[in-house]
Amino acid sequence: MEIERVYTGIPGFDELVNGGIPKRNIVLIAGGPGTGKSIFAMQYVYNGLIRGESGIYVALEEHPVQVRINMSQLGWDPKKFEEQGKFAIIDAFTGGIGEAAKREKYVVKSVDDVQTLIDVLRMAIKDLNANRVVVDSVTTLYITKPVIARTVVLQLKKLLSGVGCTSLLVSQVSITERGFGGPGVEHAVDGIIRLDLDELDGKLYRSIIVWKMRGTAHSLYRHPFEITSKGIQIYPKQTLKVYRQQAYTSEIRGEVNE
Ligand SMILES: Nc1ncnc2c1ncn2[C@@H]1O[C@H](COP(=O)(O)OP(=O)(O)OP(=O)(O)O)[C@@H](O)[C@H]1O
Ligand SMILES: [Mg+2]
Repeated sequence: MEIERVYTGIPGFDELVNGGIPKRNIVLIAGGPGTGKSIFAMQYVYNGLIRGESGIYVALEEHPVQVRINMSQLGWDPKKFEEQGKFAIIDAFTGGIGEAAKREKYVVKSVDDVQTLIDVLRMAIKDLNANRVVVDSVTTLYITKPVIARTVVLQLKKLLSGVGCTSLLVSQVSITERGFGGPGVEHAVDGIIRLDLDELDGKLYRSIIVWKMRGTAHSLYRHPFEITSKGIQIYPKQTLKVYRQQAYTSEIRGEVNE
């Protein structure tokens, strides 16, 4: 039987996962700083909006006003869809403090209690009848308490998957870390997409690899991608080989350690 998939519309990505992310999957989008996680997440939600779907962006790392600016910079105007009740940003960043925050409809005052976030998210999903949800970043919810990471992710999964949403959870990992956000989280999610930046001969190269995606076959290659003024463009027919030993020569390591 053909499974239902959510077409991300991110150029080149759907080819990597046989046509789209299986519906209801909770997918970790993991990577170091500046690798394109937030752009990937915004592009995923926005592409749903232009297809007539509804989406929610949970902002834990940036001010909602900044999220709107970042989207507009890439040519994705969220305002129209917010007015139509098709798109919402959940403000889990400001704590409700400041003039701009007073204008936000969905505010989570403290993220110390994940249940509050879950409750607001549930309400927003119902109001919008949303099917695409992004949490940027889920790491913020447990960075000071790694022991609760798995519980937090499972709570989110229970809600999101239960109401039929297909979701991206942004996971921040440090530059040197090759993992995705810790074992508890990595096994709890249905999919893992890893974005990388590797320095080779003094230049940074972007690449993407789908590490796991429950419910579908997917590419097992590392593919190059670009970020332009229109967002992410992946090259599914190209692969990138990263020779890490070569990238980090002893000379560079020496400089870093000094
Ligand atoms: N208009 C643009 N053209 C080309 N590249 C861009 C453009 N806008 C942003 N970028 C690139 O995207 C990067 C930021 O991407 P993004 O915000 O998605 O990173 P991130 O993975 O979310 O990082 P962090 O973990 O720090 O939040 C910038 O560092 C820059 O290299
Ligand atoms: Mg980000």
